[in-house]
Formats: sequence, structure tokens, C-alpha cells
Amino acid sequence: MSLELSITLSTGASLRQIGLGTWLSKPKEVENAVEIAVRNGYRHLDLAMIYENQDEVGAALKKVIPSVVKREELFMTSKVWNSSHQPAEVEKELDETLRQLGVDYLDLYLIHWPVAFVPGKGLFPPHASKDEVELDLKTTLVDTWKAMIALPKSKVRAIGVSNFTIPQLEGIIKATGVVPAANQIEAHPLLPQDELLAYCKEKGIHVTAYSPLGNNLVGKPKLTDYPAIVEIAKAKNATPAQVLIAWGAYRGYSVIPKSVQEERIKSNFQQVILSKEEYEAISAVGKGNHTRFNIPYGYTPRWNINVFGEPEEKDASNPVNIGA
Ligand SMILES: NC(=O)c1ccc[n+]([C@@H]2O[C@H](COP(=O)([O-])OP(=O)(O)OC[C@H]3O[C@@H](n4cnc5c(N)ncnc54)[C@H](OP(=O)(O)O)[C@@H]3O)[C@@H](O)[C@H]2O)c1
Repeated sequence: MSLELSITLSTGASLRQIGLGTWLSKPKEVENAVEIAVRNGYRHLDLAMIYENQDEVGAALKKVIPSVVKREELFMTSKVWNSSHQPAEVEKELDETLRQLGVDYLDLYLIHWPVAFVPGKGLFPPHASKDEVELDLKTTLVDTWKAMIALPKSKVRAIGVSNFTIPQLEGIIKATGVVPAANQIEAHPLLPQDELLAYCKEKGIHVTAYSPLGNNLVGKPKLTDYPAIVEIAKAKNATPAQVLIAWGAYRGYSVIPKSVQEERIKSNFQQVILSKEEYEAISAVGKGNHTRFNIPYGYTPRWNINVFGEPEEKDASNPVNIGA
């Protein structure tokens, strides 16, 4: 039985602490996953245009609304993609997301990355001469944030960002006076993000942790397979995924594990509570082992931009254009 813990945003809306991630869910898988999730109690769904599966999510929603839940019982997050950062594009892409999902509004709409691509050339516009995406170095984060602020409340209940660092958050807040309701970031024991969490707490920015199981595209072992995590889970009669999700929940933010497998979808939602000792034992796995899995400079094709200031990004040619 899930504890069904909820968290309240600065806007007053509440969301369940454990949500369902949908990235890298293959065609046909996500429709099934979303339907299973909602039938088993999930009410918080994490979506995005770039996952290229929102129409399937929409098909699942048709199967569960209103027979299983009312629309207003779900908390749906989606994200504007990099190729729609230009102010004229932001609402157009939102409209397309709403059409794909078959809903009238989102509960939370995020700027997916602090990186703009040129518009009108697809989701990953190819650079004319290099094996890179073509960045839009003129459109600033402040430009895009202002366009997010201007979105009608009838279509988005709250707005926020994702993958933003402290200076990037500071920049958009200073320029507009509007504090994002949320920042969705990679967070797990190998990347605890303590400084960013403290900043967000001080500003009242809700944090959602992505890749809580340490999913990665670079073939490193998943956190669920780390012997220390397996041992802690065994001692608690829980799964490794459950204790990793609980580690995030212990820290007070929301966590969005992705699975397309029925048993995992169900068990990931069974919230277990860690003792202080268990929490610290899991945290110890990350000590001296800083690992950020999701670095766009390493993607193929490359995004030639330094988003986080990680050593892996030191050769990137471009800084993030925050704007003023
Ligand atoms: N804002 C962003 O830039 C951003 C970036 C990355 C992710 N996200 C969001 O965050 C969500 C979660 O992150 P993620 O997908 O990167 O990683 P994750 O949820 O940490 O891990 C997903 C991986 O773990 C497997 N898994 C799920 N439950 C498991 C269990 N109980 N035991 C063992 N393995 C399990 C999944 O496989 P199966 O499906 O086969 O179970 C999948 O391979 C995404 O789906 C997306 O919605 C956002």
C-alpha cells in the first residue's frame, strides 16, 4: 500500500511525491505503462514533447479519465523543448502538447533545458558543418522565461524549469521577479545536489528528482545494482529501487522513476520510509563518487554548450545565455 504522500507547491497546488517518468519508453510501452500506473494509484505523470510519446500518453489518459480518475485528480507535468524557446514558439508548442495529450491544461510546464536550439528544423536541428545540433545563441533564458510567464493560466497552472543551475535560476528571477514553481533536476546518491537543493528551498522552488535509479546512457552500472544498495534493500525487505526512491523522498522532494514493467511500476510506488541510519548508509555510496549521467555536451549529436560546469564540459565552446 502506498503512503501517497503529497507535497504543496508555492502556488498552493499539491502533487504526489512519487510520479511516473516516461522518458525512453518505447512506442506502445508508454500507453500501457501510464494506464497501469494510474489504475494502481499514480496521480503524478512526468511528460515531455521530446519523449515523442505524448500521443500515446493521451491514448492512455482516454482509458482512465473519467472512468478511473477525474482530470483534476492527476498532476501532469510537461516541458517545452529547446527548439521552441523563442517567445513566438512557446505557446505554439504548448498547444501541440495539449493536443497530443488530449487535455485542456497542464499542472506544471517546464523549460526542459537552459539551452535554445534554432526553431523550425526539427527537434535536433543539425549544424550545417559539424556533427552538432545548431544552437540558438541569441534567445536568452530570460526571453523564454518571460514567454512562460505570459502563458494563459487556463492552459498551465504553474510554470517552472528543469536542469537549471543556481546562476541560471538567479538570472531569470532577477530579471522578472517571478520565481519558478519547480526545478526538475538529476538527483540520486551519486549526485546529491546539496547546494542547489538548499537554494531552491530558500526560494520556495519545488525540486523533482529525475533519474533517481541512476539511469544512464553511457553503460555504467545502475544504482539498483550497487552491492551496498542491494544489501540495504535486502535488510529492509524492499527492492533496491524502493530504497533509492525513498532516499529522494527522505530529502523532501518529488521523485519520478520510470518503468514500463507492470511489477516495477507497482513496486516503485510502494513508498518505504528510511531511518536516518539507512538514509546515511545510502548517501555514503555517493561519497567521493560524484557522477552526473545526463550531460548534453556528451550527447550524439553534441550540444556544444557548458550547462553545468562539470569537467566533462570544459571544452564546450558556448556558455548558457542567461540574459538580463
Ligand atoms: N528533465 C530532464 O531533463 C529529464 C532527464 C531525464 C529523465 N527525466 C524524467 O525522469 C524520469 C526518470 O528518469 P530516468 O528514466 O532517466 O531514470 P530512472 O527512472 O532512474 O531509471 C529508469 C530505468 O530503471 C529501470 N527500472 C525501473 N524500475 C526499476 C526497478 N524497480 N528495478 C530495477 N530497474 C528499474 C527502467 O527499466 P524498465 O522500464 O524496463 O523497468 C529504466 O531502465 C524520466 O523517465 C523522465 O520522465 C527528465
